[in-house]
Amino acid sequence: MTLPPNSLSITIVRADRRTLPVQVADSIRAAIDRGELEPDTRLPSTRALSDELGLARAVAEQAYEQLVAEGWLDARRGSGTYVREVPHAVRSRRTVHRTRQSPPPAERISLRPGTPWTPPSASDAWKRAWRDVGGSPPPGDYPDPAGSLELRIRIADLLGRARGLHTTADSIVVTTGSIHGLDLVLGALSARTDIEHVVALENPGYRAAAALAVHRGWSVHDVPVDQEGLVVEELESIPHETPAVYVTPSHQYPTGGLMPIGRRRALADWARVTGSTIIEDDYDSEFRYGIAPLPTVTELVPDRAVYLGTVSKTLGAGIRLGWMVAPPSMVERITETRRAIGDFPSVPIQQAMASLLRDGEWDRSVRSARRIYRARDRVVAAALARFGELRGVGAGLHSVLILDHTVARAVASACAARGVDLPTLEHSTRSPTTDGGVVIGYGSVGDNEFVYAVKVLVEALETVLPS
Ligand SMILES: Cc1ncc(COP(=O)(O)O)c(C=O)c1O
Repeated sequence: MTLPPNSLSITIVRADRRTLPVQVADSIRAAIDRGELEPDTRLPSTRALSDELGLARAVAEQAYEQLVAEGWLDARRGSGTYVREVPHAVRSRRTVHRTRQSPPPAERISLRPGTPWTPPSASDAWKRAWRDVGGSPPPGDYPDPAGSLELRIRIADLLGRARGLHTTADSIVVTTGSIHGLDLVLGALSARTDIEHVVALENPGYRAAAALAVHRGWSVHDVPVDQEGLVVEELESIPHETPAVYVTPSHQYPTGGLMPIGRRRALADWARVTGSTIIEDDYDSEFRYGIAPLPTVTELVPDRAVYLGTVSKTLGAGIRLGWMVAPPSMVERITETRRAIGDFPSVPIQQAMASLLRDGEWDRSVRSARRIYRARDRVVAAALARFGELRGVGAGLHSVLILDHTVARAVASACAARGVDLPTLEHSTRSPTTDGGVVIGYGSVGDNEFVYAVKVLVEALETVLPS
């Protein structure tokens, strides 16, 4: 098996007096000596390693050649470069140390944002919801393309009390999640031939949104973000008409910025003046630790905005259920298309969701998840604030430690070498940005693993950052 390039714990520090090939060779040599790389492990190709490190290929080649010459590595013609058995490496002691420190690869810990923490066993309310569904006969007929009326009424009630967004069932369309909502909106706008199909997206931003726009045949215009989310003035400088902007004002994904009211109003005004549609993805606003969520942009300009909600960050990403609030003409166009192409939301899933809302389980599960994430948010703030600017704490399911790009890469690969995966901001960046960083997701793992992973991250930061 070939090691993935990001699992080698290689630390590159530009200010270091050692040359780059020497730094790479030193890191690999130390990993072999510590017993972290077993004999016969195949190293990544020099091309893969240099791509991962963002260095010239010659650097990796020189490092490997050096280690082959020293007897740490074996270059097998046509097969690759392998770790050699090194008799004097003190395996026994170090191996004990290693198993205590880092989990074996099968138990990797992922701090990637995206999925929420879910309880290990089904709650009574979850079982009850599905018993309710199972108690009704199978839905024989095609359902309402906007979604079940009962569910839409319950979502309208939820948005009013939890989000201050006052709407009615007629303005709601049930979707299979935020990305599906975005697809439905771009689909509806695509029918218009009087506009250019260009969508403005945050950069860094949600990769799936960009992938979807491209898949739909739309061009993407990158708009920078800062600590207050999308930089609205930059919309003015887009040289062509932009009929849609996709934005995450409650907790910019992934940099965590919270868009203040002044900017929200400016965004609403921009949409009013240009006639563009704001697509507001409110993907994790259920989670606030201290302050109440700010009002939605949709509420400021309901006739020019579409609001997207999802259960992916609360009940689970595998459920595939979400909702949108849209102006009447958009709802009409979307439901007509859905009926025409047979894109009907699944009835049993909607019934189960309505049941969870009806008996209060949604509120209960959000409350208990909020307690868990709040504690994790505090762990992160306490442990990482001394290393740099922390963005996005106090809200949502992830935060970001702003770092230089090279440092962020080195930290992520040092963590990966110890079994902890976390992405750098570059994973969400389409055009170059000044700020780099590492993204710390709060979901998907248990408390002990989370605390352990933050400890590994702190140790990586202490190693990589100059003291
Ligand atoms: C910014 C953003 N929006 C929405 C989602 C969820 O999308 P969906 O509802 O399609 O699962 C995610 C999940 O990672 C996200 O990061």
